[in-house]
Amino acid sequence: MRAVRNTTHGGPRLLEIQDSPIPHRAPGEVLIEVHAAGVAYPDVLQSRGEYQLRVPLPFTVGCEFAGVVVEADADSGFAVGARVLGVAGAGAFAEYVVTPADRVLNLPDEIGFVQAAAMPINVLSAEFALGERGSLRAGETVLIHGAAGGLGIALTQQAKLRGAEVIAVVSTPEKGELARTVGADHVISPYNFLDETRAITAGRGVDMVLDPVGGERFTDSLRALTTRGRLLVLGFTGGSIPTVKVNRLLLTNTTIVGVAWEGLMPESSVSLPDQWARLVPHVARGLLAPVISDVLPLDRAPEAVAALDERRALGKTVLTVREP
Ligand SMILES: NC(=O)c1ccc[n+]([C@@H]2O[C@H](COP(=O)([O-])OP(=O)(O)OC[C@H]3O[C@@H](n4cnc5c(N)ncnc54)[C@H](OP(=O)(O)O)[C@@H]3O)[C@@H](O)[C@H]2O)c1
Repeated sequence: MRAVRNTTHGGPRLLEIQDSPIPHRAPGEVLIEVHAAGVAYPDVLQSRGEYQLRVPLPFTVGCEFAGVVVEADADSGFAVGARVLGVAGAGAFAEYVVTPADRVLNLPDEIGFVQAAAMPINVLSAEFALGERGSLRAGETVLIHGAAGGLGIALTQQAKLRGAEVIAVVSTPEKGELARTVGADHVISPYNFLDETRAITAGRGVDMVLDPVGGERFTDSLRALTTRGRLLVLGFTGGSIPTVKVNRLLLTNTTIVGVAWEGLMPESSVSLPDQWARLVPHVARGLLAPVISDVLPLDRAPEAVAALDERRALGKTVLTVREP
């Protein structure tokens, strides 16, 4: 089968399209014929060997997919031919992928493979962040960094569904337009977001900051919070891991919350099927539709992963593996 392979940890552009054997399924796993695969930030990190889940070289990259079940345990709940979406620690940029049955989700008939492949990681991570980790409440104000990225869009859509007011932080006008189309109430720039946030909130600050970027903006993110605010740490696309003087937390009753949705890890404390069941009604009504700005054939995976690495991606890119 065709597969996108990491043989060097040399970054996105050194990923190679190769012929690779169809993976074998162990008990408890599902073999899936992949129709489409989403490009996600873990692919960037895995291309350089920097992701927390270490996969020995050489390996097939790709962490999320939509497709059709080829083989599964009789008691798995998945019939051969069932339409599904899901996640894998690696291996989704290929014609077939194997993953544990608890990482596979039923795909409603009305959702196509391309749209489905763009959803799992970001939609489920956002649900975990805003629900279990952040307890976002209706009427709260939330500031979202990287709001036109894949995760930022899912966070914005779900924050709006929970009744929050959303301030989106994005680096270009094009990204700002996108953030507005998915529901952001305000769009501001990363370069003076603290002043702009204070102006929007009449000096009060926001109840929650959602931060997939990290780096130098972290301290200003803390300053942008109101008393008893919470900052959710989601990632470090900005490159550096921030440090914090903890007296800032004491003075303002601030909470910093780590968020690690573990869907790609061998063991997950979160039930993906339970999360999916909570989201499906909104998915079916089109309220969590990802914004897909590029649909490319599998062979173009290296440039698609590079676009995320180089901060050029708008919303999601999806790779098609089979003709629709
Ligand atoms: N903790 C969790 O459970 C969890 C779950 C899912 C994803 N994540 C993490 O969340 C982060 C975002 O994922 P994503 O899928 O939304 O990625 P993405 O689509 O590439 O979006 C990331 C955004 O980060 C911003 N950014 C700022 N500085 C950047 C830089 N130097 N290089 C690249 N982007 C930069 C960009 O927005 P602007 O240009 O507008 O600043 C960009 O749109 C990743 O680190 C990912 O691993 C964490």
